[in-house]
Amino acid sequence: AKKFAVIGNPIAHSRSPMIHAQFAKDCGIELTYEPVLGDLNGFAACVDKLREQGYVGANLTLPFKREAYLLDIIGYYSPEAREAQAVNTLKFEEDGTVSVYNTDGIGLIRDITQNLNCTLLGKNVLVMGAGGAVQGVLALLCAEQLKRLTLINRTKTKAIGLIEYMLAMAATNPLPFHFSTSIIFTGDDPVNVTMQGRNLDGERLNHLFEVAVSDWHVDQFHPSEGYDVVINATSTGLLGGFEPPVGVRFAPNALAYDMVYGKQTAFLDWAISQGARTADGWGMLVEQAAKSFEIWHGVKPDTRALIATKGQ
Ligand code: ATR
Repeated sequence: AKKFAVIGNPIAHSRSPMIHAQFAKDCGIELTYEPVLGDLNGFAACVDKLREQGYVGANLTLPFKREAYLLDIIGYYSPEAREAQAVNTLKFEEDGTVSVYNTDGIGLIRDITQNLNCTLLGKNVLVMGAGGAVQGVLALLCAEQLKRLTLINRTKTKAIGLIEYMLAMAATNPLPFHFSTSIIFTGDDPVNVTMQGRNLDGERLNHLFEVAVSDWHVDQFHPSEGYDVVINATSTGLLGGFEPPVGVRFAPNALAYDMVYGKQTAFLDWAISQGARTADGWGMLVEQAAKSFEIWHGVKPDTRALIATKGQ
């Protein structure tokens, strides 16, 4: 059987082995897929070991996704991995190189648009957080022709850093769209970063990206219609400490999405109290796994039955 693994630290709780085993069964493919506890100071050595042992591929989870982008044996980067500068899927090639991919953004977009039946076209979207989880999905969200994307983060410098990084990426890499930008300063602080996108055909995508930072509010950026989709990509679902951001209004039939799975988080409780419909990150996990599976095996597994289990 072909050998696969997921590397993380911690890793014991990972549901990926179960998901890939189910896909393999459904598709009639023989494989093993095991959790591997990665050494925090020896990630590259851990990858080398799997390669030498004849593994075909591996998934990566916290905290290795960004480090994996810097491996020196990479022979191919998928566009999504380049955009995110983070990697969740490795494929070991016969010439000793590794091809790297990032399927997290695809997983999120598929879950929202296909499983939850929520179109993103022309929508007002609020993303909360500016860590690795956001970095992995931001470029693909931006390519969905939203009406407006607002990014808020508790710490101002981190959100600005993420946007600056997106701009640098756009300047040096073939993204599925181009940015032009204006940064509006209030006092000494860039509090409002506005980017207007164009796709590669030069067609103007009328979306604005705005960064409201530091004190966890959206006041001056709020769309009058309210937010159609609110995504919690902070680690509060895992670590606790969630406080509702000040001034957020949900549009009628809004979707609130927590990237954490298997938990009724404080964010989801708050969203329900505001009348939103909610979803956790289980569907995203299954969909990113399905995309990895497709990269490795060339077959697209059916995700519906697993998604319906809600991870229970
Ligand atoms: P991940 O890879 O899961 O995104 P990370 O890179 O450490 O993890 O990022 C964690 C995110 O959760 C950050 O955006 C963090 O905000 P700060 O930049 O201000 O640290 C956010 N976060 C963590 N605890 C939070 C809290 N109690 N309230 C709001 N945001 C929080």
